[in-house]
Amino acid sequence: MLVVIKKDYDEMSRVAAMFVRDRLLRKPDLVIGLATGSTPLGLYQELIRMHKEEGLDFSRVTTFNLDEYLGLKSDHPQSYNFFMRENLFKNLNIDPHNIHIPDGMVKPAELDEYCVRYEDAIREAGGIDLQILGIGRDGHIGFNEPGSSLGSRTRVKTLTQETIRDNARFFSRADEVPCYSITMGVGTVMEALEIALLAAGETKARAVGVAIEGGVTAQVTASVIQLHRRVTVFLDEDASLMLKRKDYYNFAAGAEEDFEKLKS
Ligand code: GLP
Repeated sequence: MLVVIKKDYDEMSRVAAMFVRDRLLRKPDLVIGLATGSTPLGLYQELIRMHKEEGLDFSRVTTFNLDEYLGLKSDHPQSYNFFMRENLFKNLNIDPHNIHIPDGMVKPAELDEYCVRYEDAIREAGGIDLQILGIGRDGHIGFNEPGSSLGSRTRVKTLTQETIRDNARFFSRADEVPCYSITMGVGTVMEALEIALLAAGETKARAVGVAIEGGVTAQVTASVIQLHRRVTVFLDEDASLMLKRKDYYNFAAGAEEDFEKLKS
């Protein structure tokens, strides 16, 4: 696991975008797993800049979003569908047919089958090459709240009260935040060929500390990335505050950059 710590949010976002660009240049038909939330916004803005100013091409890219609130229509301003269109897709040359976001309006009786089909679609696309992740304050990824099976697949998940409170800032009232979501499972995420997890701000420091340096546990679903073969964690200084081996991560990230230069 490579842990890249940058001085602030903007720098972290820029470096994460360079990382995505590198993967995209190597594989123009990249299949990307996408996350919502405030954390990846800077990364998305930088990718948009790269597309507009440098001609970074997304025409062959396929995307799969991690999750969606159940009960919100795709045009609801707080839906993840709306979020993705506003903050990324409308500014890229991505083919709308290649965009996949769980549908929050699937009828309850059809949900199980719908979730299986979402997994099928990922497989049919050849699997996810690069999964972008944020992290909740309780260490969740997607909406895989504490206690989610580490082998879980795409399914309906009840949000914790903490997540509902955290996400209430985007809604006008806390009781408007849906209680349920459709989310890729932890097992689904783990099948991606590569994972990039982003975290910024002091409020994430504890979750980052336990996810990276604690034991692997379903109580902190992000900790499962310790078992993945190719993971890069992008942090700003504040999110790295509780890491004990920070000096080594900085040393290793520097050494890795030098090594990449030697190879090219
Ligand atoms: C939600 C999303 C997660 C996201 C988390 C953190 O729960 N389902 O994918 O990582 O919020 O969001 P933020 O980046 O806004 O802190």
